[in-house]
Amino acid sequence: MKNRTKITLGKNGPLVSKLGLGCMRMSSVWGSPVNDENESINTIQMALDSGINFLNTGDFYGSGHNELLVGKAIKGRRDDAFISVKFGAIFYGGHMLGLDLRPTSIKNFINYSLVRLGIDTIDLYQPCRLDNSVPLEDVIGTIADLIKEGKVRHLGVSEITADQLRKANSIYPVTALEIGYSLADRQIESDLLPAAKELGIGVVAFANTAEGLLTGEMKAPLPAGDYHHHFSRFQGQNLISNLEKVEVLKQLAKEKGFTPTQLAIAWVNAQGDYVMPLVSMSRRSRLPENIQAMEIEFSPDEMNVLNTHFASGAILGGTYLQR
Ligand SMILES: NC(=O)c1ccc[n+]([C@@H]2O[C@H](COP(=O)([O-])OP(=O)(O)OC[C@H]3O[C@@H](n4cnc5c(N)ncnc54)[C@H](OP(=O)(O)O)[C@@H]3O)[C@@H](O)[C@H]2O)c1
Repeated sequence: MKNRTKITLGKNGPLVSKLGLGCMRMSSVWGSPVNDENESINTIQMALDSGINFLNTGDFYGSGHNELLVGKAIKGRRDDAFISVKFGAIFYGGHMLGLDLRPTSIKNFINYSLVRLGIDTIDLYQPCRLDNSVPLEDVIGTIADLIKEGKVRHLGVSEITADQLRKANSIYPVTALEIGYSLADRQIESDLLPAAKELGIGVVAFANTAEGLLTGEMKAPLPAGDYHHHFSRFQGQNLISNLEKVEVLKQLAKEKGFTPTQLAIAWVNAQGDYVMPLVSMSRRSRLPENIQAMEIEFSPDEMNVLNTHFASGAILGGTYLQR
């Protein structure tokens, strides 16, 4: 099965697959064990063979491990892949310690990323978050410099506000906004999503399954030691109430002959031509199911059921995406 649909990312931007492959969970980020490396590389290569060219990584995913993995997977077929890289986060021992967005640091980070990936140019380069430690003009200006130097093709941003997006875009044209978005997390619909649409910026939407909540595979209580316990969404009565909500998705999936994950991805996909579902897949077996999700359509009634049951605020508690 192939993902044949392509989208133009941003105004006159690059042509990329409508479904993106998130590589983060192939490495240890939050202290989880590293996945089977061969399977991860095979998954990336099978994704490329299936028409998925958008690969998402970060220099802090496994402290460089993820970029090395992506580099191995694309060796000899650079032109098949569109490489999106985030930078700026400092991770240690499964915890995010802070951000480093200083221009000299960015100019240092990029060289390490290029070497680990084994490429000359990163297609989309983006700060993973912004803070007030460095003026936005300096962060965006540094990436603009890297574009002039030929080390980067397009500017991206991630997890920012609508005001920051407008400001960033006024300094240098932003090609894509990477942002958490799902039936369970719809806060961006009030101002960030309309701003991206108005400015002609592509939306790369991650966490479509809301940390697995929308897969329909989660059961209360969660096993001891499960990382989900850290998030209020998965604690006590919140989890019980949220799993009840997911029953509606499970029921609709059953009626349509798909899985809840497929509907969760299809719902994101249905939000517009400028919205790309970016899905983590660490095993080849995920690909046919998730590629098929891109073909699913909803009737107006089905859309209404989903939008009503998963209206903003319907899912209780938050994850690290709490804005
Ligand atoms: N900008 C940011 O701040 C930010 C933050 C987080 C993530 N990201 C990027 O976005 C990507 C996706 O985000 P995410 O990992 O948070 O969310 P996600 O795509 O919802 O993935 C969550 C989990 O869903 C599982 N999954 C995938 N397909 C499935 C299926 N058909 N049935 C059941 N489970 C399935 C994956 O398992 P397997 O791994 O076992 O295949 C993964 O562990 C990441 O890889 C990363 O590149 C960006």
